[in-house]
Amino acid sequence: MQDHDKMTVLGIETSCDETGVAIYHSQKGLLADVLYSQVALHAEYGGVVPELASRDHIRKTLPLIRQALAEAGLAAEDIDGVAYTAGPGLMGALLVGASIGRSLAFGWSVPAVAVHHMEGHLLAPMLEAEPPEFPFIALLVSGGHTMLVQVDGIGQYRVLGESLDDAAGEAFDKTAKMLELGYPGGPALARLAEQGDPHRYRFPRPMTDRPGLDFSFSGLKTFTLNTLQASNKSEQTRADIARAFEEAVVDTLAIKCRRALKETGLSRLVIAGGVSANSRLRQRLHDVARKQQARVYYPRLEFCTDNGAMIAFAGTQRLLAGQHQDLAFGGKPRWKLETLSPV
Ligand code: KG4
Ligand code: ZN
Repeated sequence: MQDHDKMTVLGIETSCDETGVAIYHSQKGLLADVLYSQVALHAEYGGVVPELASRDHIRKTLPLIRQALAEAGLAAEDIDGVAYTAGPGLMGALLVGASIGRSLAFGWSVPAVAVHHMEGHLLAPMLEAEPPEFPFIALLVSGGHTMLVQVDGIGQYRVLGESLDDAAGEAFDKTAKMLELGYPGGPALARLAEQGDPHRYRFPRPMTDRPGLDFSFSGLKTFTLNTLQASNKSEQTRADIARAFEEAVVDTLAIKCRRALKETGLSRLVIAGGVSANSRLRQRLHDVARKQQARVYYPRLEFCTDNGAMIAFAGTQRLLAGQHQDLAFGGKPRWKLETLSPV
């Protein structure tokens, strides 16, 4: 292994329905970032089909690695370490990235490191020009997770609250499906909500009337379904419902973020994961932060959703600290963020 603080790391993300590959240099930053989204493949089924996802990752990962090396103008010998997403996610999909990543590292005689997907998301804003300093509060909102985390350093995570049922992105996707907006529905629902009247409906803000930082979105989903079924289902009504739903999710997340900032006394708020691409959420969290004399950080749009860059970045930090895996590899479909070791 190359020593000290200079490393070029290949990152591989295959936990769900995007194959992401990137190359990160510890001093020069991101050298290459390529992505293949399987959205079209799963769209006709209305959701991710795990077996199809695994097969597609098998087809795409190696060609994307070649493409990333070419984009960076590098050869395999220039890679000093390999980072792959080991979990959480779909087991078959994870095993593709893990086995390719681990095999390449073995063949190239460089270390490999297993990266936690949510650590990738929460560190993604550090790829930007003005990265947040530690400590900060992170709101992680993706298709599979909704969490508020106190981040004291890399690998030092205290989960302050999380969803007891559906994740925020999952609620967006299921509601979008009800509104016949296809898959994945988050961005389509946000677009439809633009046309909606914010005053026509008011949906509940789940679990905001009691203390604590946990979330629950499944009741809101049912409330939305009942409202839709009792309505005339016109185009305008559907837009009004989309707007009321988005408003309720954004408001709920904002209330909990305000609480987390107040309770911890911290002044930096990071938002990451697919739903952090939502512009209404970003706007609302800016307002919350301003009132608390805090600042909001988020990744550029393409790094909100799954990507290889965040995995390459997180992996680089761990490899620089001398952390890596032995020859054994595997997927960890359920992997608790709090169990990660500090860097
Ligand atoms: O982080 P991500 O790419 O994958 C997971 O790790 O789950 O997040 C995907 C989720 C999906 O549920 C998608 O609908 C949601 O992020 N999403 C959005 C928006 N863009 C993506 N939800 C609301 N508004 C958006 N603009
Ligand atoms: Zn993700």
